[in-house]
Amino acid sequence: MDVIRAIKVRYSCRDYLKKPVPEGLIRDVLEAGRLAPSARNTQPWKFIVIRSEEKKRGIMKAQPLFNSWMKSAPVFIVVVSDKRGKFSERYHMVDLGFAVQNMMLRASELGLGTCVTGGARWNNLTKVLGLERGLKAVMVVTVGYPSGKKPLLFKVAEKTGAYKHDRKPLEEIAEFLK
Ligand SMILES: Cc1cc2nc3c(=O)[nH]c(=O)nc-3n(C[C@H](O)[C@H](O)[C@H](O)COP(=O)(O)O)c2cc1C
Repeated sequence: MDVIRAIKVRYSCRDYLKKPVPEGLIRDVLEAGRLAPSARNTQPWKFIVIRSEEKKRGIMKAQPLFNSWMKSAPVFIVVVSDKRGKFSERYHMVDLGFAVQNMMLRASELGLGTCVTGGARWNNLTKVLGLERGLKAVMVVTVGYPSGKKPLLFKVAEKTGAYKHDRKPLEEIAEFLK
């Protein structure tokens, strides 16, 4: 799949089939994250894969109600900021974003749906996972086979516009200086 095709087919998937994702595919997605660029190549990330219902319940405890749709995802990839080694104070969160986008694009190419979620209380999420000092769970990427449906709660939240998939036109966001 071309990169542009993967970019265009990706969307925030919020309802998944009850079909397990083979570990090989999860590793493939993680590999795309591993290869992401980072400031001074500090790679300030860790990815924690969660598949058991018990562990997923723990993660869900740290989620707000509007993210209750996450339960349907067979896999959570918790994206952890790792400040135990070298990291860029200014860019480490941007670095995590590159890794997440790489993972989501590779997942799209593999026919998997994803959604990045940042709605959780970070401290709770970090505590649930029992992470050591210097590690902080900042995002959870849901992964699975898309059901093609939209969860009911999402339809309500959608009215706020926060989950919209449309984009500003290029003319509004880009400028060619003369
Ligand atoms: C940093 C970040 C945090 C997000 N957090 C949530 C979230 O907590 N819950 C959710 O349902 N969607 C979340 N989203 C998904 C956005 O709502 C979504 O990317 C946006 O509406 C654009 O839609 P699209 O991904 O379908 O193109 C998040 C996206 C980003 C980039």
